[in-house]
Amino acid sequence: MKPIIIFASGTGTNAAAIIAHFKNNGRARVALIVCNNPDAGVLDIARKEEIPYLLIDRQTIKQTLLVEQMADYKPSMIVLAGFMWKIPEHIVNAFPGKIINIHPALLPKYGGKGMYGHHVHEAVVAAGEKESGITIHYVNEHYDEGNIIVQAHCAVAQTDSPDSLAAKIHKLEHFYFPKTIEFLLDSMY
Ligand code: GAR
Repeated sequence: MKPIIIFASGTGTNAAAIIAHFKNNGRARVALIVCNNPDAGVLDIARKEEIPYLLIDRQTIKQTLLVEQMADYKPSMIVLAGFMWKIPEHIVNAFPGKIINIHPALLPKYGGKGMYGHHVHEAVVAAGEKESGITIHYVNEHYDEGNIIVQAHCAVAQTDSPDSLAAKIHKLEHFYFPKTIEFLLDSMY
């Protein structure tokens, strides 16, 4: 089973969807969760699923020890599932072509620093966009700029609020993210 490392900062519904997907089909397993927020819901998921986790801070993410700890798990893929910090260059370089992110909008629109989670949906609704969606992309040293792997679209109704749009986006994420990870893992080797 190919080991996956998940980075997450929040509730962890995407992490839960990925864990459940691979628990069911046995093609990969979430071997480690890396989190920067001691209050994050994703840590409850890690504890419940008995998945080891690392709690990191602004200092530890800069240190080579984290790369060494990650390398111990021999990850086939590193998945950012709602991780709100930029991945430093030394981590990107340590795992070339293996780090992917999910963004809750159609990049290159609504990406970059400060564009995460609810802020994205607020901006999309405020701009009166007729559609939004998700972008799964490789991670490079710049926010939201790596090569795009897949995008999925949804309509934004005039009556949509940031909350109702977030619910639509989460549905797309939970459907496409695990399948995309599996597709990438299958095509890697
Ligand atoms: C997801 O919608 C994800 O796309 C977004 O955070 C949410 C996390 O939800 N990521 C970003 O905004 C990254 N720039 P979750 O904790 O329920 O998986």
